Amino acid sequence: MKIVKTVDEIRAIVKAWKKEGLSVGLVPTMGYLHEGHKSLIVRASKENDRVVVSDFVNPTQFGPNEDFESYPRDIDADAVLAQDAGASVIFNPEADEMYQDALTFIDMNKITKVLCGKTRPIHFSGVCTVVGKLFNIVAPDRAYFGQKDAQQLCVIKKMVKDLNFDIEIVGCPIIREEDGLAKSSRNTYLNKEERQAALCLSKSLCEGKKLIENGETSTEKVVNRIKGIIESEPLARIDYVEIVDWNNLEAIDTVKTPLLCAMAVYIGKTRLIDNFIME
Ligand code: PAJ
Repeated sequence: MKIVKTVDEIRAIVKAWKKEGLSVGLVPTMGYLHEGHKSLIVRASKENDRVVVSDFVNPTQFGPNEDFESYPRDIDADAVLAQDAGASVIFNPEADEMYQDALTFIDMNKITKVLCGKTRPIHFSGVCTVVGKLFNIVAPDRAYFGQKDAQQLCVIKKMVKDLNFDIEIVGCPIIREEDGLAKSSRNTYLNKEERQAALCLSKSLCEGKKLIENGETSTEKVVNRIKGIIESEPLARIDYVEIVDWNNLEAIDTVKTPLLCAMAVYIGKTRLIDNFIME
């Protein structure tokens, strides 16, 4: 698997592909790849002639007290997984290749201020900026994002619309462990007891979904049921549990589709997110 470190080189590679008339898919990641990332790469390689996987722990999307330094990294393992999944090349720049005294950042209102944006005020500006840069560097036909980060998917779709990027955004389903825990690079932070406790996220979401399917129309009642299940887990601490309109992430009192039920929960020191969408 070719690992490219510079903007110039990845641009030259993509330019040569385009000259041949080949289509290009981009899968942006922060590395430490798992089955969730793999599902995006596999999908991208089915739908495009060539696939670029970006592998970059983006400093601008981490807050000062967040886990930028300790975020897990393993480029050699990533190269093996990406190759298996059908990637053509990995773009793995250093931070100073991506940011040289940068003064320009993409900012967005409203949908970046709710849910995860409440406790991570600079996060989505960092995500939009790096994804916007990757879109300009790689100029893909399609880019692939997981529904695991549902708010991120919504934010990227809005950015693409607002800024006229000529790129199709493809959302992909959440890949889970057999017991229901959503796959995440951050799951490696969990010890044995925390790993077990972390099941309260997916379990409570399943219960919430069932309530709605059985006719519950009050989002407050659904959220309270979910919170109750999480609160009965001693190692868990809720950041938020909310049900919002999936089109604009605005809070809704009454169940109406499409909706997003999203949560962030600390298990010990590790902040995990999970959600379901009802179309
Ligand atoms: P990262 O957390 O590495 O995730 C990269 C992509 O993989 C995201 O689109 C995410 O939603 C998707 N993904 C992660 N876990 C998944 C799972 N269990 N099932 C399906 N998809 C999953 O998200 C980021 O990186 C960064 O914010 C990034 C967009 C790369 C910008 O830096």
